[in-house]
Amino acid sequence: MAATSDWTANSNEALVLSLVRAREDKQVLGDNESYEAFQPTFTYPIYGEDEKIYGYQDLVIDLRFASGSLAQFLSVHYAEKLVASSTVDDVEGTLKQFVPPGWETDEEAFLARVEKDATSFTPIGRRVYSYTRPTPSASTPGDIEYEVYHATFDDPGFREYHRRMQIFILLYIEAGSYLNEEEDGWEFVVLFEKRKRKNGTAAYHFIGYSSLYNFYCFPENVRMRLSQFVILPPYQRQGHGSELYKAIYQYILTCPAVSELTVEDPAEAFEDLRDRNDLRMLLADEQFMKEGFGTQGVTASHGGGRVQKTKSHIRAAPMGAPRGTMSQGKMGPPVDKAWAEKWRKDLKIATRQFQRLVEMLIMLHLD
Ligand code: ACO
Repeated sequence: MAATSDWTANSNEALVLSLVRAREDKQVLGDNESYEAFQPTFTYPIYGEDEKIYGYQDLVIDLRFASGSLAQFLSVHYAEKLVASSTVDDVEGTLKQFVPPGWETDEEAFLARVEKDATSFTPIGRRVYSYTRPTPSASTPGDIEYEVYHATFDDPGFREYHRRMQIFILLYIEAGSYLNEEEDGWEFVVLFEKRKRKNGTAAYHFIGYSSLYNFYCFPENVRMRLSQFVILPPYQRQGHGSELYKAIYQYILTCPAVSELTVEDPAEAFEDLRDRNDLRMLLADEQFMKEGFGTQGVTASHGGGRVQKTKSHIRAAPMGAPRGTMSQGKMGPPVDKAWAEKWRKDLKIATRQFQRLVEMLIMLHLD
């Protein structure tokens, strides 16, 4: 009889995820591209706080998704299962509560579905943003296109699609939970890779998505709150998160009713991504930089390390003043309040974030 620990599996290690491409779509992949066998970061929302599954040896929970349609396949296998024990965890029954019905359990049927979906699946909603990157494979030179689609639950088929992708929120966002589908006001942006095949047709592959919630705010504006944001591990750290964030921001700029973009409980990595992109955007805005930092810009350290004014709306802090006390007595960067508020509103950036960005720009312009 094995020791208790042998019968206990770590659910983060036991769960293995894959994004499965059709045969033809695998042919154009570079050697270094793999979308199979990646691990979740969290499984506690599914298998409990201690992320342990009891009653199996060498447990593998093989959860696969068709790379575009996200049709699912589940297979649970193990070397041995405890039979005479009521404490054995129900691996499949537990997972079932978090994924929609209709997953395949027969591998051949799933692979047939992958082939079929690869030619028929197209993203739901309206394309709002796109960009390209060179292929990582020398054998298939050229560019890969990436497209972002905006959708709501009113788009036919999107509710079902969302039910298939939302498990990634539990698996990758700390304290992430399913949103309430019954609430009005949810909007989504979904990022896809659009990859050309050798025969000239293209296939769409899911990369990640973000959910946005629009709040009506008195008297006639909408405040858009970015609620969830995930890029799947095989695509992380390649700039796709930044592109998806830019897509959201640019989409918001085109919506006259939306007054600003806020973010719900940002994780540190997301906050970093947001700061970098917002800063890049401000630095690239010639008018903002000219008005805020003067035509010469501020390059040297003057006046004891404080910002030197060169016809700008960023004021120099008086000697001895604590940093961040210039905006009419409130904490905030030393800027002309009316000027800053005009820009903040035009750029639809939330107040606190805009203050942080201005502070960062001031620091950047200090030597
Ligand atoms: N090659 C290599 N690295 C690059 C490239 C490139 N071409 N382009 C950018 N990078 C670097 C960036 O400089 C950045 O570096 P840093 O770690 O030093 O800051 C890093 O990659 C991340 O930038 P992106 O690649 O644009 O971001 P990514 O696509 O990895 O997405 C995210 C980041 C969203 C946090 C992702 O890792 C993720 O989904 N994590 C799990 C879920 C999560 O935490 N989501 C946010 C929750 S908060 C919320 O939902 C409101």
